[in-house]
Amino acid sequence: MKETKNNFGKFGVVLAAAGSAVGLGNIWKFPYMIGENGGAAFLIVYLGCVLLFGIPLMTSEFYVGKSGLKNWRWIHGLTAVSSTLFFAFYLVVTGWCFEYLYLSIINATSGLCPTQLENTFQAFSNSIWMPLLWAVIAIVLTALIELAGVKSGIERANKTLMPLLLVMLLVMIIRGLTLPGSSAGLRFLLEPNFSKITPNLILSAMGQCFFSLSIGVGTLATYAHYMREEQDLPITSARVIGLDTLVAILAGAAIFPAVFALGINPTEGPELVFVTLPSMFGQMRAGYALQIAFFLLLSIAALTSTISLMEVELHFLQKTLKMSRIKGILLSSGVVLGLCLIALLYKPVFGWLDQLVSLYLLPFGGLVFAIYVGWRCPKDHVLRHMTPQGCPPFFGQVLYTLVRYFIPPTILLIFLQGIGAV
Ligand code: PHE
Repeated sequence: MKETKNNFGKFGVVLAAAGSAVGLGNIWKFPYMIGENGGAAFLIVYLGCVLLFGIPLMTSEFYVGKSGLKNWRWIHGLTAVSSTLFFAFYLVVTGWCFEYLYLSIINATSGLCPTQLENTFQAFSNSIWMPLLWAVIAIVLTALIELAGVKSGIERANKTLMPLLLVMLLVMIIRGLTLPGSSAGLRFLLEPNFSKITPNLILSAMGQCFFSLSIGVGTLATYAHYMREEQDLPITSARVIGLDTLVAILAGAAIFPAVFALGINPTEGPELVFVTLPSMFGQMRAGYALQIAFFLLLSIAALTSTISLMEVELHFLQKTLKMSRIKGILLSSGVVLGLCLIALLYKPVFGWLDQLVSLYLLPFGGLVFAIYVGWRCPKDHVLRHMTPQGCPPFFGQVLYTLVRYFIPPTILLIFLQGIGAV
């Protein structure tokens, strides 16, 4: 039996899952990928991936968690391990956001030229103790929210933080778009350049889809365990995916118009956020306040994702190993921090974690969920949950067919291609 008292509310679960999905992937990775990979052309490929992989896989993960089938146990164990590895990587980057929030508040980056900003970032990210300190702070905040439980901790935090995040994004968009010359940024972001569509681009759109939608490490399945009985799975997936995609596009619209208006060359990945943006804010009126708002936004987005990651471990420790919540929190925080320390002491480990999580862990998890739901679970039961309420059974059948026949071979092919076997 499920513990109904502690279950998420109808929109609470959408916000919590969106909180997991909306994170560094949306604000730090997606805007640059769109701009660099042919603007609207990338967006179209990405949306294709979302339809073909995102909706069916998110619905499958929800299904596994919500139906609480017996065999979920071993998948649960697997996701507890993969979410721990993912968490360690993610926590390090969350710590970077916290450091930059702190630097913004004390106004330490204003007046620095791009080279100095670059050096600041390199020196910080290559050091050990400050990043570790921020990782500790981030995990303590995550643990405190977890301690309050699913409804009054996770649901409440997401209900407050997610709208705040949207408001801050809107303020930034308005500021960026009102700068003269900002339309070049919108063009960079949205002008379709179909010649950029290559097999590699499709692969990176797919990787981004898994990363951004939090597919494959069990966060969605774990949250689904606390869903109400009547919660509609495909509709919930569509809402979460809609929010996630909206935030990703808004993040691009918040960043590029201002970057272009100020004549700055946009850079890639971590550099964009930790070097280009401070340099941009430094040249803007009200830049001080906006920079704080931006890094606060990024830290919040990261935090709502770390909460979901810790919940996977906790849920596993509580249900399978019958550990108390507080002991589980202490144990999982300890393990993740230990891994973080290793990654900070031995930099190549951080590089491996980065590669491991983005290239293998999430698609592998997606593959496991697809095979389990498509081939091991009772078809009628799955179909019932995959058909949105009030829609003809055809919708459920399409999702089921994708999960059973399309997704597993496609992911396998991509793995084989990755290791050079085909
Ligand atoms: N979706 C998160 C992001 O976009 C990352 C994440 C993946 C979080 C998997 C939890 C689980 O940043």
